[in-house]
Amino acid sequence: KILILDFGSQVTQLIARRVREAHVYCEVHPCDVSSEWVRQYAADGRLKGIILSGSHASVYEVDDRAPDAVFELGVPVLGICYGMQTMAQQLGGRVEGSPVREFGYAEVRARGHTALLKDIADFHTPEGHGMLKVWMSHGDKVVELPPGFKLMASTDSCPIAGMADETRRFYGVQFHPEVTHTVQGRAILERFVLEICGARPDWIMRDHIEEAVAAIRAQVGDEEVLLGLSGGVDSSVAAALIHRAIGDQLTCVFVDHGLLRLHEGDMVMDMFAGKLHARVIRVDASELFLRELAGVTDPEQKRKIIGRLFVDVFKAEAEKLKAARPGSKGIQWLAQGTIYPDVIESGGAKSKKAVTIKSHHNVGGLPEQLGLKLLEPLRDLFKDEVRELGVALGLPHDMVYRHPFPGPGLGVRILGEVKKEYADLLRRADAIFIEELRSTIEPNSGKSWYDLVSQAFAVFLPVKSVGVMGDGRTYDYVVALRAVQTSDFMTADWAELPYGLLKRVSSRIINEVRGINRVTYDVSSKPPATIEWE
Ligand code: XMP
Repeated sequence: KILILDFGSQVTQLIARRVREAHVYCEVHPCDVSSEWVRQYAADGRLKGIILSGSHASVYEVDDRAPDAVFELGVPVLGICYGMQTMAQQLGGRVEGSPVREFGYAEVRARGHTALLKDIADFHTPEGHGMLKVWMSHGDKVVELPPGFKLMASTDSCPIAGMADETRRFYGVQFHPEVTHTVQGRAILERFVLEICGARPDWIMRDHIEEAVAAIRAQVGDEEVLLGLSGGVDSSVAAALIHRAIGDQLTCVFVDHGLLRLHEGDMVMDMFAGKLHARVIRVDASELFLRELAGVTDPEQKRKIIGRLFVDVFKAEAEKLKAARPGSKGIQWLAQGTIYPDVIESGGAKSKKAVTIKSHHNVGGLPEQLGLKLLEPLRDLFKDEVRELGVALGLPHDMVYRHPFPGPGLGVRILGEVKKEYADLLRRADAIFIEELRSTIEPNSGKSWYDLVSQAFAVFLPVKSVGVMGDGRTYDYVVALRAVQTSDFMTADWAELPYGLLKRVSSRIINEVRGINRVTYDVSSKPPATIEWE
């Protein structure tokens, strides 16, 4: 295993992610653990190496140091950014503050033929020096190597951008190998954990399930857990994992607001109640939602109403369940499918040092109101790991790799007032679009268009236009198709779907969904448009 000590950088979890991608088991712990703790941690002989993360602070602002034991165990150590600086300072080198921050892209020259960087380069200079394209973010820098170290890398503005003591196998890099902008970052971290540390690449999702199951059992004991199932990937995987751990001590509440996709509610019930034999309560609240939404046209107001009703319905159900078993300990926990990006966004990373960027709706609020403790078994995982976990838990591939679906559902895909009639038309049009995307294979990649786009859906426009069908004139509604490609959902391009596919979708919708006689394709990118229409 690899120990990552977290000095509070925003990207510490990316180190863990890269190490796990190399199939090596690792854990992130705060940097202020004691030397005694580190020795204890290493006592079983499994610890193969230690990585010291970066920090958002300067060595002069904070006095965080690595516990001395880190350098005494005889295992390889890699310091990244602040981690390198504290390594330098603690081992007798010198770090100097700098008024200018170096931030962003840099080109680093590899030096000294170290085991860490040997034969890893993005390009070579005419003189034959290996060069790395990296991402830097720092103010301070190491200005004097500690005894025993040699220069490993440098840039024009940062003469000591990397250092190595190959006898003790201590390495430091000023740049961030864990971020994808550092092109060879993955290769460098793999080199460190697999070759220098000699860690075995045997960590797989199955092992994680066992650990996670054991952790959930230890945390929950014989108490009961409530989980709000939405049909989305995160809550589904959380439900499957917790169910694996504690079976019937888990009760899922699935609030059907009537704004789900075609057959979605039945599919969720079939999967969880039918196949997994989990205890699931389906609350059909569609009439309540439609009633409260009647006459409301403003998108933000619709979102607020849907959000509020959702919480109300869920709370009422939770109270009922709590009251139903007054004798037993009853429900003590609320489980949520919070994943690591949610944690980072809300500034609630385990590290007490990470700074807040913005708050996120997934975290907080409900557990306190319900007087329940919070159980978040996916807190350390990234989306793709959650998906991998879902598949390993036996959830169907199609469910786990589904496009994201907004909480307010079709409520924000029916422009203006939400009506049952509109929702029914939209559901059928949307299902045809998705079906065609799934069944149309793009020949070069061999993938379906569903997998090639990040999100796709139909939007209902409550305007009527004239058409002709057979001998008759029609006067019906319009739907718009939306398909986008994006990596982060902050920016997105409209997908260049083949005309043949659009043609099939359009003709099927108009022929099969009576009430819609016109289909358009949305060719706006984000920004300035957004992905959803509301
Ligand atoms: P926009 O429309 O802002 O969407 O470009 C970006 C991503 O966020 C999703 N989205 C929402 N998700 N509640 C959610 O849970 C919402 O109110 C909401 N609005 C947008 C959208 O589907 C896309 O993936």
